[in-house]
Amino acid sequence: MSQQISAAQSRSEATAPTSETIELLHQRVSVRKYTDDVVAEETVEAVLRAAFRAPTSSNIQSYSVVIVRDEETKRRLSGVAGKQRHVAETPVFLAFCADLTRIERAMETNGHTIANNNMETSLVSSIDAALVGMSAYLAAESLGLKGVMIGGVRNNAVETARILGLPELVYCVFGMCLGYPDEVPPLKPRMEYTSVVHYEQYGQTRGASDAASTVAAYDVELAKHYRGTGRDTTDDSWSRDMDSKFHPPLRDRLREELSALGFRFS
Ligand SMILES: Cc1cc2nc3c(=O)[nH]c(=O)nc-3n(C[C@H](O)[C@H](O)[C@H](O)COP(=O)(O)O)c2cc1C
Repeated sequence: MSQQISAAQSRSEATAPTSETIELLHQRVSVRKYTDDVVAEETVEAVLRAAFRAPTSSNIQSYSVVIVRDEETKRRLSGVAGKQRHVAETPVFLAFCADLTRIERAMETNGHTIANNNMETSLVSSIDAALVGMSAYLAAESLGLKGVMIGGVRNNAVETARILGLPELVYCVFGMCLGYPDEVPPLKPRMEYTSVVHYEQYGQTRGASDAASTVAAYDVELAKHYRGTGRDTTDDSWSRDMDSKFHPPLRDRLREELSALGFRFS
């Protein structure tokens, strides 16, 4: 915990406005090990009810959440996600889904169909699910829970849909492991604020504005972080991570899989 506090204290904006929410965000870190303590149903419900207050594009509320506690289901989801242990071992797994079924119903009663929906529909429903997911994450943290989002469910979107019993027009955008923390990972550094924030026009930053300088500086910072945690890395840590993640292209079948589930991303 002292590491977390010192990281917060070392922020250059020591005199900047702050609040419980801001402090919560500054100490947020993905946690992948949980105690055996049960996450009570009322706790999950409180978290999700709060999360559903998230803004939603044109009030479409195009999300659904599947709460998974069953060991076999978690094991199967872990398999899709590349055998991620924390998915199998998490006390509770929340699947944040984009859900167009209710919009379909609304349109049908007006004599129309959503079957030929376009990319905008797919995008806004995914954004809606993401906003609810992040809100849930923060609500959970405020109650002492920790977790990690799981994009690995999109390794095979169709198989994930099958495991969760999702109907057509619903897909799992990402999942979330949630539990009481059994580890205190160090905060992973972020890219330099002054390189990422632009004033009025893109490129007008108060730090290095070119990608090459920003990436070079972050490579060093992240390598330092990884070495501090005992993880083997190279000096070009982030660049190498990104290259190996996206070359060859990741989840190349996703467009076809989402199309089969009723989402048109083209
Ligand atoms: C949409 C999304 C999907 C993610 N998928 C996974 C995942 O499948 N497995 C995992 O261990 N972490 C996953 N993460 C966590 C990221 O790896 C993590 O947030 C990032 O490395 C930054 O670390 P931090 O959250 O500890 O600051 C995901 C995060 C997001 C936002």
